[in-house]
Amino acid sequence: MGAILAAAGSAVGLGNIWRFPYETGNSGGAAFILIYIACILFFGLPVMIAEFTIGRHSRANTARAYQILAPGTQWRWVGRWGVLTGFCILGYYTVVAGWCLEYVIDSATNAFANKVSADYVEMFNSFVSNPWKPAVLMTLFMLATHFIITKGVQKGIERSAKILMPVLFILLLFLAVCSITLPGASAGIDFLLKPDFSKVNADVFLSALGQTFYSLSLGMGCLCTYASYFRADTKLPNTALSIASIDSLVAILAGFIIFPAAFAVGINPDAGPSLIFITLPNVFTQAFGDIPFIATALSLMFYILLSLAALTSTISMHEVVTLYLHEEFNLTRKKAAGIVTIVCGFIGVLCALSFGPLKEYTFFGKNLFDMFDFVTAKLMLPIGGFFIAIFTGWFLDHKVLRSELSPCRTLHPYIYRAIIIILRYVAPAGIAMVFLNELGLLS
Ligand code: TRP
Repeated sequence: MGAILAAAGSAVGLGNIWRFPYETGNSGGAAFILIYIACILFFGLPVMIAEFTIGRHSRANTARAYQILAPGTQWRWVGRWGVLTGFCILGYYTVVAGWCLEYVIDSATNAFANKVSADYVEMFNSFVSNPWKPAVLMTLFMLATHFIITKGVQKGIERSAKILMPVLFILLLFLAVCSITLPGASAGIDFLLKPDFSKVNADVFLSALGQTFYSLSLGMGCLCTYASYFRADTKLPNTALSIASIDSLVAILAGFIIFPAAFAVGINPDAGPSLIFITLPNVFTQAFGDIPFIATALSLMFYILLSLAALTSTISMHEVVTLYLHEEFNLTRKKAAGIVTIVCGFIGVLCALSFGPLKEYTFFGKNLFDMFDFVTAKLMLPIGGFFIAIFTGWFLDHKVLRSELSPCRTLHPYIYRAIIIILRYVAPAGIAMVFLNELGLLS
């Protein structure tokens, strides 16, 4: 149960509440969401089942898992690729987690009171371009992750996730109601529910694919590592379905908070990574402007819960990389964790400052932060997922697959066949097509 909760904790995080709305906003709304849901069904779920299978059967860290299941082959590079991806995501993910900490402080000091929408935009911009604050808060968050990884208090986090996640969920539900009832919110609801396929292009498909892997923590061996702690009789397909459902529900709820409010106060939905930070304070102040105490309490609670949701996600990434260094290079856990924290912290500082002092350093028109986001979510994770699907569908012994997918032979044979067909053909071909389409080779 602990391991399953931890996997859910890993999946639910900034990816759902921060990244999903901003990708949806960039990609035009409802049509993106439909494509995203299709991606979850055809790529996310099967790859999650594949990661679970690899992890539970090998009972090892993600790189070793391939050596155990396919000894002497090059498949171990899929594991190593995952570790590299983990390094890169953790580096810039903690930057956004640091922004959440800033918003915890702002809530506690009542900084949102008596302001209007334009002020929140200004507040965000001046904060992220500050020459040191974002880097310090990011470092703090990284150290908190480091502390939990080295002190081995993950169990405590898992247990608290059991309470925190439902509380976060209820709060999101409540905020969604507040947002939907703001005057002028209906344009936001249309944006979420009325698909406009004329805006769908190759980029939208790639965004949806990337968001699927990102939000479900797939493609880098994260859930594979957690599955190595699952019980032998845990039903993998059912567990995958539950985690994917919870994760998507949280993301969609976040959409129902952000877009009605954004349209109500006139914020462009394609504001990018700043979207939730410039939109949400409006919900608190507009809905509860007359009762400032409630506005403060709600926003404080929200940003604390969001930071904790981010923490269960950073722990999962840190753990994958730490475990790899610890087991493969015979380092002590402490040393391994230290290396991860320092290297990722370095990436994090650079990304944290890429809206301020380092904003001149751009690649293909993107600053460092956006670059890391793009390369990890839209390239590295889908590539990892592609190979995980191929490995499980084509190379893994079918006896192993059958016994892992249905240890008690309770899985319906049709569902089993469907999973195999998707892993063998649909997922690899689909992912490849999204890439080819993006490169303009399909049109
Ligand atoms: N899924 C997490 C989120 O939504 C982020 C995350 C944690 C992640 N572990 C991962 C993303 C592994 C990709 C791979 O916030």
